[in-house]
Amino acid sequence: MHLSNFYLASNPTPVRDAITNYRRAFDENPHSFLDDNMFAREEDKLWRTVCAEAAEYVGGHADEIALTTSTTMGLALTYNGLRLRPGQEVLTTTHEFYPHHEAIRLATDKWGATMRSVSLYDSSFDFSPDEALDRLRAAVRPETRVFGVAWVHSNTGVRLPMARVADTIAELNRNRDEDDRILLVVDGVHGFGVADEDVARMGCDFFSAGTHKWILGPRGTGIMWATPENWALIQPTIPSLMSAETSAAWRQDRRPTGPTQASWVSPGGFFSYEHQWAAAEAFRFVRQIGRKRIQDRIAELNSQIKEGLAAMDHVTLHTPLAPELSAGIVTFDVDGHSPQDVARILRENRVIANSTPYGVPHVRLSAGIVNFPDEIDVALNVIRSLKA
Ligand SMILES: Cc1ncc(COP(=O)(O)O)c(C=O)c1O
Repeated sequence: MHLSNFYLASNPTPVRDAITNYRRAFDENPHSFLDDNMFAREEDKLWRTVCAEAAEYVGGHADEIALTTSTTMGLALTYNGLRLRPGQEVLTTTHEFYPHHEAIRLATDKWGATMRSVSLYDSSFDFSPDEALDRLRAAVRPETRVFGVAWVHSNTGVRLPMARVADTIAELNRNRDEDDRILLVVDGVHGFGVADEDVARMGCDFFSAGTHKWILGPRGTGIMWATPENWALIQPTIPSLMSAETSAAWRQDRRPTGPTQASWVSPGGFFSYEHQWAAAEAFRFVRQIGRKRIQDRIAELNSQIKEGLAAMDHVTLHTPLAPELSAGIVTFDVDGHSPQDVARILRENRVIANSTPYGVPHVRLSAGIVNFPDEIDVALNVIRSLKA
């Protein structure tokens, strides 16, 4: 029973078929297959199809999408590219996962800026959006240039109301100059493919998410989203093969002209194009099922987990019960057992769970659209049996 859907997706048939077909074509003629689909005619460039499908999914435009290989890469390209000034700070939260904190640390070290973390809640189970936003307001300082936060925290399962976070940042920006405006950077990976929301209308400035988890896409795929005005703030880190202007500028021995665009930020070098291009099929697949239906099913199954655990007095549930304050991740502890032990015992009973790789770990279960209620009953029975 695969109850670790937060990890890597098992690809649905259309995605798997697309990868296989692209791979076969590459193996038959790697030069011409790449050349024809990547560099020849504008209308044949397959990465544009991925951007178009992603744009449809986020409710935005294809030229607002950059293609990455993971959430981590998108976050790193954002912070590394943001041209922070010495004295400016990146404010983040104590609830972020390693790649987010580390991307901030590496970039602030490089730019001579600083980072600081604020706790948005003491009890995740009793998470209060009002209190979290009050804490955010109180934490912002004049030197805060970025607020970086995850849509869904993977150690607690808390889902932040991102539109309200964005409204709060907009309020705080009211009396700031454009150059000092607080930018909202979102690690969106555990909301993307779970929540029925248009990322392009949530109000964030930079959004990064892998598409190899809840979007059910190929391993090593992800997207970034930002508006053209915000892309212009970014200095690309890795040379792009998707930008006609930067490569033309190099051939003509001049600097690229015009503001940075999303395509300039999509990292180049040759890589596993069969995966990147097949991501288009994943977006089609989840859109065909319907974002709302997926959200409702994930909420239904994870509510079954949470309600089952909440009824056990040897279990401490960390994820809020309310579907609008949580997503597809449920974390908890079991009296008398380490999280690692609980994950191992579940595994011995054919339930795939894990313990979270955070400073304070918890047991984590995560139901997705591949699951059925009776699988959750099996997992709950195993945990029930652990009562001393
Ligand atoms: C909150 C959060 N952000 C980022 C990541 C890393 O995602 P990726 O593997 O796409 O870089 C994870 C991994 O599960 C995560 O839990």
